Amino acid sequence: MEESDSDSEDDSSSDKCLNVSIRRARISDVDNIFRIYSESIQYLDLESKEWIAGVIRKRSKRIRIYVAIHNKSVAGFAIVYKKRDKAYVDALAIDEMFRGRGIGECLLRNVEEALAGEGVEKIYLTVKNHNNRALGMYVKNGYRISNVILVLEAKLSNIDISVDKKVLDRTRISIDSVKRASIPRVKLLDLTMWNNFTWDVDEAIYRLSGEEVTIITVYNGRRIAGVAQLSTTSSKIVVERLALSYYRPTESLKVLIDSVKRFADRGIDTSIVIPVDSSKTSLLKTLISMGFRIVDSEYVLYKDVGEEQEKSISSVALAKHV
Ligand SMILES: CC(C)(COP(=O)(O)OP(=O)(O)OC[C@H]1O[C@@H](n2cnc3c(N)ncnc32)[C@H](O)[C@@H]1OP(=O)(O)O)[C@@H](O)C(=O)NCCC(=O)NCCS
Repeated sequence: MEESDSDSEDDSSSDKCLNVSIRRARISDVDNIFRIYSESIQYLDLESKEWIAGVIRKRSKRIRIYVAIHNKSVAGFAIVYKKRDKAYVDALAIDEMFRGRGIGECLLRNVEEALAGEGVEKIYLTVKNHNNRALGMYVKNGYRISNVILVLEAKLSNIDISVDKKVLDRTRISIDSVKRASIPRVKLLDLTMWNNFTWDVDEAIYRLSGEEVTIITVYNGRRIAGVAQLSTTSSKIVVERLALSYYRPTESLKVLIDSVKRFADRGIDTSIVIPVDSSKTSLLKTLISMGFRIVDSEYVLYKDVGEEQEKSISSVALAKHV
């Protein structure tokens, strides 16, 4: 995107885009996107090639993949969720052999411009605490830290939960695959900010790509107490989404973790991993008192792209009056 002021950093970044073009991903790009994704991204729950193909096929307004093309090949990609006037960049990566040439910054700028053009005002993303290179790129491009996500982990054998017998008696638990589970549409309290962007879109993509994802829903009488979406590896159960009823969330959290524990009971070495916004202090305290420990953290960054859009419109208007 052309910037309105004559900051030299902005000029150099548009130079960086000289040999790069940005477009929406096509099915023929899937292999390259998946290769760069697998080599570059270190998430708790890595998506499959089928998931990437599912996103491209879906042609949804809520999720899209952009690619950076350099010398006719895919040099990098960005996976972006959009929800009304907000967006979340879920992953952005450049092929190792093309890094350090400004392609990452060029891709980021183009994605911001495309989103701002669709009315997006705020863009969010997360960066692992030790990823200084990405953090440097985002801070240089106007992103600010708004929050921290703490990654909690506990071995099954170390989890100690005391759930009131009366609460357990009125609790019903449903465990299902994403294909058959009917995920509740009621408003729930999500433990991480990204779930607000991703969960309903991902559910549709998982159904399309035929992926195995487990959903545990806990009912308290007829009311939903909470939902957990799990992905499993040989030694870890990653809680990709954990959402609780606004009514007595701490009690709901205990019942839900108890259900995840019972579902996961497959050996003392298995652990449960849950990412949680650091602002959810009382839920964090509850998890720590159950035996969870902080093993990693990520910064949540944001940028007001609406402000920039306004700035550039007003400076164009000003220029016309000169
Ligand atoms: C982060 C990543 C996308 C950057 O892509 P890139 O094409 O190498 O980045 P660029 O060449 O555009 O560099 C952009 C800016 O990053 C900043 N930067 C690079 N390395 C840095 C470092 N070690 N410390 C601070 N800032 C750094 C610089 O400001 C640089 O701009 P400059 O060269 O004009 O000074 C790339 O390193 C990558 O794919 N990493 C793995 C995946 C990842 O971590 N993605 C981000 C989280 S989803």
